[in-house]
Amino acid sequence: MAAKWTPDSWRSKPIVQVPEYPDAEALAAVEGRLASYPPLVFAGEARALKKGLAQVAEGEAFLLQGGDCAESFAEHGADNIRDFFRLFLQMSVVLTFAAAKPVVKVGRVAGQFAKPRSSPTETQGEVTLPSYRGDIVNGIEFTDAARIPDPERQIMAYRQSAATLNLLRAFAQGGYANLEHVHQWMLGFIDNSPQSDRYRQLADRISQTLRFMKAVGFSADEYQRLRETDFYTSHEALLLGYEQAMTRVDSTSGDYYSTSGHMIWIGDRTRQPDHAHVEYFRGIKNPIGVKCGPSMTPDDLLQLIDILNPDNEAGRLTLINRFGAGKVGDHLPGLIRAVVREGRKVVWSCDPMHGNTISSATGFKTRPFDRVLQEVQEFFQIHRAEGTYPGGVHFEMTGKDVTECTGGARAVSEEDLKDRYHTHCDPRLNASQSLELAFLIAELLQVEQPAVEQKVAASA
Ligand code: PEP
Ligand code: CO
Repeated sequence: MAAKWTPDSWRSKPIVQVPEYPDAEALAAVEGRLASYPPLVFAGEARALKKGLAQVAEGEAFLLQGGDCAESFAEHGADNIRDFFRLFLQMSVVLTFAAAKPVVKVGRVAGQFAKPRSSPTETQGEVTLPSYRGDIVNGIEFTDAARIPDPERQIMAYRQSAATLNLLRAFAQGGYANLEHVHQWMLGFIDNSPQSDRYRQLADRISQTLRFMKAVGFSADEYQRLRETDFYTSHEALLLGYEQAMTRVDSTSGDYYSTSGHMIWIGDRTRQPDHAHVEYFRGIKNPIGVKCGPSMTPDDLLQLIDILNPDNEAGRLTLINRFGAGKVGDHLPGLIRAVVREGRKVVWSCDPMHGNTISSATGFKTRPFDRVLQEVQEFFQIHRAEGTYPGGVHFEMTGKDVTECTGGARAVSEEDLKDRYHTHCDPRLNASQSLELAFLIAELLQVEQPAVEQKVAASA
């Protein structure tokens, strides 16, 4: 029998990656205030997302998850949110068409603030200070004052998340997500892309399909489904005091839900089975993710699945793989075989970002576009070879024209990185790199299609 779970039972477990707040009373007071604030999302929405993810687990939908590595207070504004959402919709139209399946849309947004760090301190010259842990904890400026963890920042992060989510909901339901507009934006991207010839064929097929739908009476003017979309939020639930304060009992089911976002995940550095993060996650009913890096063994994974999804519920657990290009073949087949052997229902998703971070000669942390693409290709190939379903992708991306990752059709060079390097943490794909990647994944998904159709034909 598992020990009793409560929203604070994680507090008696070992924990890593926690900030050292100088004033415990001030921290407790902030957590108390947060606990009295309205939830950001409600349980029914989390359940709807879980249903969508269950479809992904069954091979009937595809997951697109993405957004900032770390949201920041400085970058909070309507333009950023709009540009991100607009890009996300274009990517999902391309993927929906190529997969011929619904795309479950999950932003790393409206709560993605807290960051795990490789070292608790940062040294510049003679000075050593606490590391920056995300705007919800401390400031990025390299000064004593900024780096002291300040609990009031949790209130600011909560309010920013609420405002971001409010605008996203308005965009998703208020007409901005109209499929015909999204299609026009996508065509604009193609016209301006140096690779337009490569993407044109798929774009033309989408255009033809929309013209046909309109001709037979399915237009956005008439059909609400074509004017609206479902969009969900997610983040790494690293700062457990904040998460506990946002944990609420759902009055319809009597179950506990995290109301800080629809889906939350456990990072690769905090997935120890006997530690605090796994303890917190096992008790909430949201769909959850676990990052799986190169150090995860098949036995580690099965142990985590036992704790986190004991009822083998489809849609509950998404495994977000992040091994690095050239290394997927060393790790993924063993994990897949263990999961298949034990009959566990999971979503397999590929994060091609976190295993592909390098230092550029010009001193910036970057990710080469080709390595990102290569990891996605390896992920698809291995699932094809194992007969399992590559269910989704997970990106760090922004709707802005930043220069943080190298490569892509409008080749960003190592020299260019200094021009518009704005991220508060890891380098993100910019708008054109992200959409380009969606088109390249579309090519992989289309290879997938005939195999599925054959399977259906054979079983008919
Ligand atoms: C992240 O997603 O930003 C992150 C820190 O990832 P990981 O836990 O996989 O290193
Ligand atoms: Co990151």
